[in-house]
Parts: sequence; structure tokens; C-alpha cells
Amino acid sequence: MNSLTALQQLPANLDKHRLPNHVAVIMDGNGRWAKNRTLPRIMGHQRGVDTLKDLLRCCQDWGIPALTVYAFSTENWGRPEEEVKFLMTLFERVLRRELDEMMTENVRIRFIGNLNSLPQSLQDEISYSMDKTATNSGINFSVATNYGGRQEIINACQKIADQVKQGLINVNEINEKLFESYLYTSGIPNPDLLIRTSGEMRLSNFLLWQMAYAEIYVTQTLWPDFDRTEFQKALLDYQQRNRRFGKL
Ligand code: IPE
Ligand code: IPE
Ligand code: MG
Repeated sequence: MNSLTALQQLPANLDKHRLPNHVAVIMDGNGRWAKNRTLPRIMGHQRGVDTLKDLLRCCQDWGIPALTVYAFSTENWGRPEEEVKFLMTLFERVLRRELDEMMTENVRIRFIGNLNSLPQSLQDEISYSMDKTATNSGINFSVATNYGGRQEIINACQKIADQVKQGLINVNEINEKLFESYLYTSGIPNPDLLIRTSGEMRLSNFLLWQMAYAEIYVTQTLWPDFDRTEFQKALLDYQQRNRRFGKL
């Protein structure tokens, strides 16, 4: 089932002036989706790619300027070796296959995370796609791969400490703005909305700093089943929230 042709316009019950500027997604539940069908877990990951493709297109269609998705956490290395291997190969294959279309659609893709420890062939594909789409002016699409929020914060601290050591930054110049500029997401506004599929109510080490004031939406729907209608529900829920940011 694919909702590519349905819901191409922003649904009438959504206010186009109150859309999130940045949506972050924890794409969870691929394994359970497969298990429910007595399929191997990897089939769930495979189907998850189709869901992601449609969500990316939907964000473009509906005018959401930034999408960040969690594809592989620093903790996911703890999974069975064959699943990890499958995922790495899948990322590479999908990236190669989709690059032309992303160019046509003006998508700017970037990968965030500790990319140095990914397989070399995937790293090559990643740098190629990031360079190639760097000047595209469409949606900012970030894929968190070997990403961990704590690791990202430590990485920023190390870089800043090094600058201090070299005398390029004074300690009293370290503020939120400077710190953010050392995060992988530098230049992209913090997410307004975090969606997590398949029911778990946790962050699982995703964008810890950036999520400080994100609205959180958790759905029981498993990632491969998360279609445009589900996304519409999440946005509707978001638009009914009262974002106070600590004020009255
Ligand atoms: C999310 O689905 C995808 C990745 C973590 C790569 P899961 O593989 O975690 O699916 P469940 O949670 O086992 O159902
Ligand atoms: C979070 O899902 C990571 C990704 C979606 C890539 P997990 O399935 O790894 O999270 P936990 O283990 O349920 O916290
Ligand atoms: Mg999971």
C-alpha cells in the first residue's frame, strides 16, 4: 500500500502557517512489523525505506523545510552482526539508487553521526551524496547514522576544548549559540516536532540537546505502516499543542 498519489496537497484541516520547521523521526518498529508477518526482521527494514521515501516527499509537498530521521544509533552496533551488515548495505544501496531523484527534487542530504566508523564504501557514498547535493535549495534531509546524542555532545566539547587550548576561543565565549555551532545539526533549527513510531516513550539517545523544546508525538503505528494519513494525524496533534517555552 502506497499513498504516493493520495494526499499530495496539504490536507485542509492543517494550517499551513503553523507547520513545524523541522520534523525529527525515530523510525522504530521495523522488526515488529516483520515479526507480525512471520518475515525476517530485515524485511521490515526494507519496507521502512519505502515509508521514508514517501515521508520525505510528503514533507516537500506540504512545505516542511527540514526532516531528520534516526537510521542507526551508536547502540545499534549491539545487534546481531548479520542485521548490522544488512543495514549498512541497505543504506549504501538506497543512497546510490536514490541520488539522481534527490538531485531532481532539489533535496539537500546530510548524514549526522560518527561517520568515521562506518564501512568505507558507505562513507564514500555518503560524502559523494553530501557534496553533490550541498548547494541544493530544497528540503534539508538529515539521516542520523551511527548517531548518539551523548557522543555528539562529547564531540562538540572536544572540538571546543581544542579551540580554547589553541587560544582561539575564550572560556567565557562558550554559550548556547557557540555550542550549537559545534553540533552535527549546525545551521538547522532545532526540531519542533519529534515523532516516534511503535509506541516506545523514550528518546533512545536521539538529538538530546536539540530536543529541549520539541513537541513529542508517539504513535503505536509501526514504522513501515506510517503513511501520509498517519503523518497528517501527527501534524494535527502538533497544531493543537500550546507551546509555552516556559512562559505563561
Ligand atoms: C528501527 O526498527 C530500525 C532500526 C533501529 C535500524 P527496529 O529494528 O528497532 O524494530 P523493532 O523495535 O525491533 O520492532
Ligand atoms: C532507536 O530505535 C534507533 C533507531 C530508530 C535507529 P531502537 O529500537 O534502537 O531503540 P530502543 O532500543 O528501543 O531504545
Ligand atoms: Mg526498535
